[in-house]
Amino acid sequence: EKSEPLKIMISGAPASGKGTQCELITHKYGLVHISAGDLLRAEIASGSENGRRAKEHMEKGQLVPDEIVVMMVKDRLSQTDSEQKGWLLDGYPRSASQATALKGFGFQPDLFIVLEVPEEILIERVVGRRLDPVTGKIYHLKYSPPETEEIAVRLTQRFDDTEEKAKLRLKTHNQNIEGNRSKEEVFAQIDSSLSELLQERNTAPSSL
Ligand code: AP5
Repeated sequence: EKSEPLKIMISGAPASGKGTQCELITHKYGLVHISAGDLLRAEIASGSENGRRAKEHMEKGQLVPDEIVVMMVKDRLSQTDSEQKGWLLDGYPRSASQATALKGFGFQPDLFIVLEVPEEILIERVVGRRLDPVTGKIYHLKYSPPETEEIAVRLTQRFDDTEEKAKLRLKTHNQNIEGNRSKEEVFAQIDSSLSELLQERNTAPSSL
């Protein structure tokens, strides 16, 4: 008898190490790695209208609108490999509306991982990051340098990996935590999530 495949979501600030941990997790657990950012960069590379619109937001460090991101992620999660091997969703959800939308399609994780890293370290990680276009591997000039000179000369940098753009991405990320509002407002959001959760538990037939 085969057990249910694992479903995991991983979240964290820009350059907190999501992609790096996803490489290690998929290597050991064989899940399908689905990165919202990678899906968007593939869309840009395809030259589509959605890709063009997405890039405008990504250049400013802002979230790409839900109407582009939600269906893109939902379609990828629905593919056979994800259903059979399980999935590791990286960089989604990034807002309450994204979480609600995916839940509406019946996708819920067994585990939600949040990586916490101090801000001053995040900027250093972004600026030193390099990618190998041949293997897709993530490097860092200081913390995870390329193994050979051959790899070193072909490394590329992402278009949004400058200090200036990383600061904009961080600002967007911090807004999404929404913890820097009045205690009543923060509690209202927590309260609505918790009561929703309790209501689901009470109505879910599978909990018996
Ligand atoms: P996305 O591609 O998801 O970028 P991000 O969130 O900014 O995260 P990164 O890919 O920059 O970092 P990471 O956490 O994967 O870190 P990594 O492992 O590479 O999103 C890009 C944009 O797309 C967004 O700004 C937004 O516009 C849009 N977007 C994406 N998802 C969206 C969504 N759901 N809705 C709307 N818009 C969306 O590590 C970073 C560096 O640090 C590397 O060099 C690595 O080698 C090094 N490193 C990693 N771990 C360590 C460690 N433990 N010690 C030392 N160095 C380390």
